[in-house]
Amino acid sequence: MTTKISVRDVQKTFVNDKGEEVHVLDGVNLSVVEGEFLAIVGPSGCGKSTLLNCLAGFETASTGAIEIDGEVVRKPSRKRVFVFQETGIFPWYSVWDNIAFGLGDLPFEEKHEIAMRYIRLVGLEGFEKAYPSELSGGMKQRVEFARALAVEPDVLYLDEPFGALDAFTRLEMRREIVRIWQETGKTCILVTHDVEEAVELADRVAVMTRRPATIHSVLDNPLDRPRDPDDRRFRELKDSIFEILGVERRV
Ligand SMILES: Nc1ncnc2c1ncn2[C@@H]1O[C@H](COP(=O)(O)OP(=O)(O)OP(=O)(O)O)[C@@H](O)[C@H]1O
Ligand SMILES: [Mg+2]
Repeated sequence: MTTKISVRDVQKTFVNDKGEEVHVLDGVNLSVVEGEFLAIVGPSGCGKSTLLNCLAGFETASTGAIEIDGEVVRKPSRKRVFVFQETGIFPWYSVWDNIAFGLGDLPFEEKHEIAMRYIRLVGLEGFEKAYPSELSGGMKQRVEFARALAVEPDVLYLDEPFGALDAFTRLEMRREIVRIWQETGKTCILVTHDVEEAVELADRVAVMTRRPATIHSVLDNPLDRPRDPDDRRFRELKDSIFEILGVERRV
């Protein structure tokens, strides 16, 4: 197993509008294996997005080091992309244009070949000329995935990517992300406040503490996919995470 991402003793302090220091990350250590699906859960406001932004190079750690493929992360890279909620796509562009947009100055034929490959991968064939306003929430989310995958990154950062979807579509997109992950072999890091989502999707679940946050523990999830939330082992893993989060599970 090759280490893809290594986070060593990362601290992050912001200075807020009032000039006060906000200590967000307090010595985060984490190692992500190439091709794995890692979920990060933690209390609201603990610094999950901040950690992801540091991993992606949008924020700089105050101290400590983040390395990807043995290189220190200093700035964003096309090799590592974010999947946003549906807001990441341009409403005035068609599905095809949204996906081709990130491909820059490639010759048309090449662009078309790549855009269509990812349109097919996310199950949007036939909708390439449609505009976002003509699509459902789940379809917009598929465009967002295709847009991110088309630049052929090797790491995908997913920050609450299903947050804007209704409950039914969210379940459908969870299955889709697993399929896409299995078909493409990317390293995926998902931030979610939804413990069930983390257990359904991830190979390992990192649980963060309250702010200033560290990683309390990283739990292995050996369950076979597709996973059944009613399975006893699924529930036990969920319970262990809730226990760490200090939340009483409602029966
Ligand atoms: N650019 C910034 N300047 C100042 N403070 C910031 C900045 N970005 C984040 N923070 C603060 O850092 C803390 C952690 O924020 P962050 O968004 O990383 O948490 P989170 O775990 O993703 O929260 P949520 O569960 O709401 O998504 C918050 O208190 C936030 O106000
Ligand atoms: Mg967040």
